[in-house]
Amino acid sequence: MIVIFEVLLRVKNSLINETIEKLEILGVSSTYYDVPYEVTVDDNGYGYLEKEDREIDLHVYFYDEDRSEAESLVDKIKDEFEIEETLELVEVSEDNWQQSFEPIDLNNGWIIAEKDYSPNSLNKINFESQGSFGTGLHETTQDLLRYILDRDFEGKSVLDLGAGSGILSLAASIKNADRVVALDIRDVTEEVLYNASLNNVDNIEVVISDVTSKTFGVSGKFDVVFINIGGEETLSSMDFINEVLKPKGLLFVSGMVEWSSEKVLDKVKSYEYTLDKSTKTNEWATAVLTKNK
Ligand SMILES: C[S@@+](CC[C@H](N)C(=O)[O-])C[C@H]1O[C@@H](n2cnc3c(N)ncnc32)[C@H](O)[C@@H]1O
Repeated sequence: MIVIFEVLLRVKNSLINETIEKLEILGVSSTYYDVPYEVTVDDNGYGYLEKEDREIDLHVYFYDEDRSEAESLVDKIKDEFEIEETLELVEVSEDNWQQSFEPIDLNNGWIIAEKDYSPNSLNKINFESQGSFGTGLHETTQDLLRYILDRDFEGKSVLDLGAGSGILSLAASIKNADRVVALDIRDVTEEVLYNASLNNVDNIEVVISDVTSKTFGVSGKFDVVFINIGGEETLSSMDFINEVLKPKGLLFVSGMVEWSSEKVLDKVKSYEYTLDKSTKTNEWATAVLTKNK
C-alpha cells in the first residue's frame, strides 16, 4: 500500500499558481485545492465569480516517502515560503484521500459511482470527485450524460468545452469515441486523467484555455462538440465552435436557463443548425443540434 502524507498550506488564491510552481521545483508534484469560485446564475445561465483575495487551503501530498523524508520536504517548504509556524504532517489512507460521494443513478441503465462500488446489472462510470464541477449531480450534467450514453461515438472525435471533472469526456470515451479533447479554463488535468484511468480510458487529451478568448489551443476538426459552461459562453464561442465542428457534426449544449435558452438556441440556429432534441430539468435547458452543412 502506498503511504501518503499531507500538509496544508494557507495560500492567497491570486498566488496559487506561483506557489504550486515553487513546490514543483522542490520536488512536490501533487497538490489539491478547491477554487474559491461561486457558481451563480445570470441572465443566460451559469456565471462564475472567482475570489482572488480569498485565502485557501492548498493540500500538498507526498507519496511513497518515509516520514523522515516527508519531514525534510516540509522543512524545505517552510524555508521557501518563510513559514514560521509548525506545519502538521498527517498520514492519510490511500482509501479515503479522495472525497467520496453516493452513487448516482441516471435512470437509463447507467450509474456513476466509486470504483469499489458494485451495482447490480447496471453499466457504471467509475468516478472519484476531486472538487471540480461535474460529479454528475447537476441537472445539466445528468441531462447531457443521458444524451451521450444513449449514443455510440465509434470513429468520432469529440471536443468537450468546460470539461470540469471530465465526466462528459469520460462518457464519450466509454461510448467508443476515437479522440476526446477536454478543455477547461482551470487546470483540471490531474482530475480528468485520474478518472480516465479508473475506467481504463487513455484517449482523453486535456487543454487549458478560455473559450471567451480567441486562442483556444485546440487543433483539428471535430465530429461532436459538448458545451456546458453557460449561455453567455455558448453565444460568445459560436464562431469558434462553428469553425471546428465538421459538416453534419453534433453540438450538445447545456448550462442554459429556461428564461434565455430560446435566445441562445436561436443564435446557434442562425449558424445553420437544426434542433434535434431538447430537455428541461427544473430551470435548466439542454439541447442537441446538427450542423446542416
Ligand atoms: C458547469 S461546469 C461543467 C462541467 C462538466 N462539463 C459537466 O457537464 O458537469 C463548467 C466548467 O466550465 C469551466 N469554465 C468556466 N468558464 C470557462 C471559460 N471561459 N473557458 C473554459 N472553461 C470555462 C469551469 O471551470 C467549469 O469546470
